[in-house]
Amino acid sequence: MRKKFIAGNWKMNLNIKQSEELASAILKNLSDEIFLKCDVVLCPPFTSLFNVYNIIKESKIKLGAQNLFYKDDGAYTGEISASMLKFAGCDFVILGHSERRQYFYESDETVNLKVKKALEYNLQPIVCVGETIEQREAGVYENVVEEQVKNCLADISPEQLKNIIIAYEPVWAIGTGKTATPLQANDMHKKIREVITNLFSPESAEQIRILYGGSVNEKNSSDLLSQPDIDGGLIGGASLKPDSFTAIILSA
Ligand code: PGA
Repeated sequence: MRKKFIAGNWKMNLNIKQSEELASAILKNLSDEIFLKCDVVLCPPFTSLFNVYNIIKESKIKLGAQNLFYKDDGAYTGEISASMLKFAGCDFVILGHSERRQYFYESDETVNLKVKKALEYNLQPIVCVGETIEQREAGVYENVVEEQVKNCLADISPEQLKNIIIAYEPVWAIGTGKTATPLQANDMHKKIREVITNLFSPESAEQIRILYGGSVNEKNSSDLLSQPDIDGGLIGGASLKPDSFTAIILSA
């Protein structure tokens, strides 16, 4: 049985004070029993990481970052290393988000390097994949996502895969209010499990958690999260509202 997993991706929103307020509000809303059934991760912007960590550190809520660079340290102005994130209290890191791919030219190859670096520092990568609207309409979306999964997980061992989470986020559903239907999402999750079976093994495919992301809110979350191959959600906009985010967690 795969445990459900809900991560809030705050993107480039909230200063330190606002982040502390949001983390405190979420913390207050969640009772201990919830964590028996669902892992909860908050991914604030870099500047808020340590402050949010200090608010959630005595709880079961975990901290994640939204990106890292694949070098240990050095002259890489503006970048953040895996070790810096670890020291700020992170256990997770989102990698290859479509906004990183679209605006910052990240490729599957750089995502793969980042995945390896994250694992080296005991950070669990949440690896994002997903097709654009043009790719969906052209009917090539399954191949696109298959390639992304293969490339991002190149040279990863079955043992390492146990610490990786995949997030399927169709680009056309992110921040647009358009969600994939539960069936469309589940079909793609099934396809990703097939890809994992071929790359690794049926056991790995059965074990790996695959999240759905793209305009998930408290109204559509139960339908999405009750699909057999959907193990949780990567939540953007709705994760900035404590009551919506809590409702999504409760629906999981
Ligand atoms: P959204 O973002 O929920 O605002 O669509 C999801 C994401 O980008 O992770």
